[in-house]
Amino acid sequence: MSIYLDNAATSFPKPTSVYQAVMHAMCEIGASAGRSGHRRSLEAGRLLYQARETVAALLSAPDSSRIVFTHSATEALNMAVRGTLAAGDHVITTSMEHNSLLRPLYAVKEQGVEVTIVATGSDGLVDPADVARALRPNTRMIAMGHVSNVSGTIQSLEQFAVIAREADALFLVDAAQSAGCVPINVVVSCGIDLLAAPGHKGLLGPQGTGFLYVAPRVALRPLLAGGTGSNSTLEEQPDSMPEGFEAGTHNMPGIAGLKAGVEFVMEQGVQIIGEKERKLAVSIRDGLASIAGVTVHGPADRSLATGVLSFTVAGMDSSELAFVLDQRFDIAVRAGLHCAPQAHRTLGTFPAGTVRVSPGWFNTCDEIAIFCDAVVECSRSAR
Ligand code: ALA
Repeated sequence: MSIYLDNAATSFPKPTSVYQAVMHAMCEIGASAGRSGHRRSLEAGRLLYQARETVAALLSAPDSSRIVFTHSATEALNMAVRGTLAAGDHVITTSMEHNSLLRPLYAVKEQGVEVTIVATGSDGLVDPADVARALRPNTRMIAMGHVSNVSGTIQSLEQFAVIAREADALFLVDAAQSAGCVPINVVVSCGIDLLAAPGHKGLLGPQGTGFLYVAPRVALRPLLAGGTGSNSTLEEQPDSMPEGFEAGTHNMPGIAGLKAGVEFVMEQGVQIIGEKERKLAVSIRDGLASIAGVTVHGPADRSLATGVLSFTVAGMDSSELAFVLDQRFDIAVRAGLHCAPQAHRTLGTFPAGTVRVSPGWFNTCDEIAIFCDAVVECSRSAR
């Protein structure tokens, strides 16, 4: 029996409707959106519009033209960071971030943007007072992850949104690990200016998909220049939303699959999905508790985290444990630093890293029991 517990890297399996939607886009539609006038292209255009509407509905965003499709959350974060900040600006981020946010910030730092990294405790929770204290007159952005990809720690966005708004700074949220398992309302409760998410994790779409939500008050510069299917006589890149920010042919099979994934997520309910994943993580934690030398990292109170859980076993190398789980038990987890070295430093697990387990909607309690038994066996043979 093959057990997949690496949904924080990418979710698997996807709902059947996602596979069907990808095949339909490729085999039945085939054409590109916004590039030609024939009926197949118009059908692709309709699908693109419906996908935008679906993503906007998930986020309670009133205007779907503010959703820009990208090929990943990383691309969306680059668009947000490089498209708004300039030399002399100051940005505040946190010590729990993934490299997909930190590396674009390090890159703009080279161009004269000042970057402050606010440290958190070993639970990964960012203290809003620390962020408020880090504000400067030139603070232009507060940029942070909603959920840690290492510990699953959830940040309560509202308080940071208020701080950003009062400082007249933009609030950028990396929703890579929250979209699809933590409810997000970009307008009413949070006042989010920019939100980046992948399509292939909690939203259950295919790899190669993602998006950036851009609030109306944000003046964004495009990341890429190229064909948009509009304003072809212009030499400069149009900045009209969304097409000016989607240069090049769209990933139509991916976007079709993303639409089906988001529809599935909304049918089940984001809250329900999140609760199921958290319950599975609690079972994992309880199962691991009986094993000598196991430490679960991140918040002790699992109501402050999603289903993502990291652990170490004293005297065992995390990568080796993950390797044995795969080779001997056919259980997929991810070990190491998870592209988030700062988060591991914060949690006290740098440079060795952790074993990360990330259950998804399709995992069962039986699978979790088998996983825990497998870790027991691995730790026994290591002793
Ligand atoms: N960011 C993904 C992860 O955490 C790839 O595994």
